[in-house]
Amino acid sequence: MSTEELQIFLDIATEAAQAGGAVLMSYWGNLKDIQEKGSPGNLVTEADKAAEEAIIKVLQRHLPHHGILTEESGELGDIKSKYLWSIDPLDGTTNFAHQYPFSASSVGLLIDGVPQVGAVFNPILDELFQAAKGLGATRNRKPIKVSTTNILAKSLVITGFAYDRRETTDNNYGEFCQMCHLSQGVRRSGSASLDLASVACGRVDGYWERGLSPWDIAAGVVLVEEAGGQVSAYNGSSFDIKSGKILATNGKIHDLMSKALVETPPIATWGTNANKKD
Ligand code: IPD
Ligand code: CA
Ligand code: CA
Repeated sequence: MSTEELQIFLDIATEAAQAGGAVLMSYWGNLKDIQEKGSPGNLVTEADKAAEEAIIKVLQRHLPHHGILTEESGELGDIKSKYLWSIDPLDGTTNFAHQYPFSASSVGLLIDGVPQVGAVFNPILDELFQAAKGLGATRNRKPIKVSTTNILAKSLVITGFAYDRRETTDNNYGEFCQMCHLSQGVRRSGSASLDLASVACGRVDGYWERGLSPWDIAAGVVLVEEAGGQVSAYNGSSFDIKSGKILATNGKIHDLMSKALVETPPIATWGTNANKKD
C-alpha cells in the first residue's frame, strides 16, 4: 500500500468522522429517542443512527467497492473485500445521553484484516485524532506521541466495562481492582476509541478492556501504534481485533500491565480461593 493511497484513505476517514460528528452535535442536549438494545444499559439513540447514515454516505460516495461493518447497520457491501471499514458512529452513547462530553465518531479501515487507517472525532470537545500506517498520528493536525512513563506505580491507566458485565464472571472487576492497587490511578471514560486516543497522545499510559467489538477499536489501535505505542492481547501475544480484548500502552509499561492482567483471577473466585487450604 503506497503512502499516497493511505493518505487518500485517511482523508476519507476524516471526512466521514467529521460528518458523523457534525450530526452528533445537532443532537447534543436534544435527544428524544433513547432505547436499550441487547444487554441492559446498551443504549441506542436517533443520534447513533443519523450519524451512521452520514458516515456511510461519505464512504460509499468515495469507495463504493469497499466493505463496511457498522455498529447499527451491520455488514454492508462486500465485507470479504481487501478493504473493510469498521465504524462506530457514536462511541460513548451513555455519555452522550447524559451530556458527559466524551463521545466520538470512530472510523477505521482494515486492509487485509489489519487496522491501518483511523480517524476519531470528539465533536463536543472539538478533538480530531488521525493516523495511518507509516504516516504518524495527530491530534488536531499536530503530531502526537505516547508517554514515556516506565513505572506502573507512576502510571495513569484507563479501562471500560462491556454491557455483558453482569452476565459473566470475566467482567473486568478483578483486573480493575488489581490496577487500582498497582497504578497511580485508573480512569473510565466510557468511550473506547477515545481511551485509545488518550494513550496515543500521552494523557494516559495504558488501556485495557474486554468484550469490545471491532468498531470500538479499529481506528484507535492505529492511533496508538502510530504514536509509538504497543497493542497486543492481554498476554502480550499478537492483537486480534476479533477477540474483543486489548492491551494498549506506551510500550514501556506493557509487560508490567500484561503480567498484572494475566495473573489476576476473576473477582468471583477471590473469596473461594481465600478459603482454600494448600
Ligand atoms: C462502548 C464504549 C465503552 C466501552 C463499551 C463500549 P458504545 O461503546 O466504548 O467505553 O466500555 O464496551 O461498548 O456502546 O458507547 O458505542
Ligand atoms: Ca462503541
Ligand atoms: Ca456506538
